[in-house]
Amino acid sequence: MAGNLTFTMIKPDAVRANNIGNILQMINEAGFKIKAMKYTRLTETQAGQFYEVHKERPFYGELVDFMSSGPIVAAILEKDNAVEDFRTLIGATNPAEATKGTIRKKYASSIGENAVHGSDSDENANIEGNFFFSKLERF
Ligand code: CMP
Repeated sequence: MAGNLTFTMIKPDAVRANNIGNILQMINEAGFKIKAMKYTRLTETQAGQFYEVHKERPFYGELVDFMSSGPIVAAILEKDNAVEDFRTLIGATNPAEATKGTIRKKYASSIGENAVHGSDSDENANIEGNFFFSKLERF
């Protein structure tokens, strides 16, 4: 059965472009409830840990540099079928391939600087949410 939680980050490019409010509005209008949220900045070490599954990829260094380049908004979101529905809302990893009306189509500029992260499975949603939030920070 599909779970009802996913994890997202509004990435440094979207924060710098003043799109936090626009993106949160799209998330709320799509029916997601915010279970936990924080505005923070990852160190290079933390960004490296978060994206450790991509360690062997050629873009890993660039990804870690970018994700630690400025503040991000991290959040746990709740909705039926959360992981899949959120991936539909954000669109393809590469904004050039993203469907019209998706968050990445609207606000992302490239595959590396793609405005938002969304978990790719229930298991990773759990791991990623636990990376940022304690039990006391969830409502
Ligand atoms: P995200 O959903 O946060 O998960 C992994 C990230 O790696 C992805 O979004 C992209 O921002 C980044 N990424 C994936 N492929 C590439 C690529 N070819 N070049 C640079 N960054 C990439």
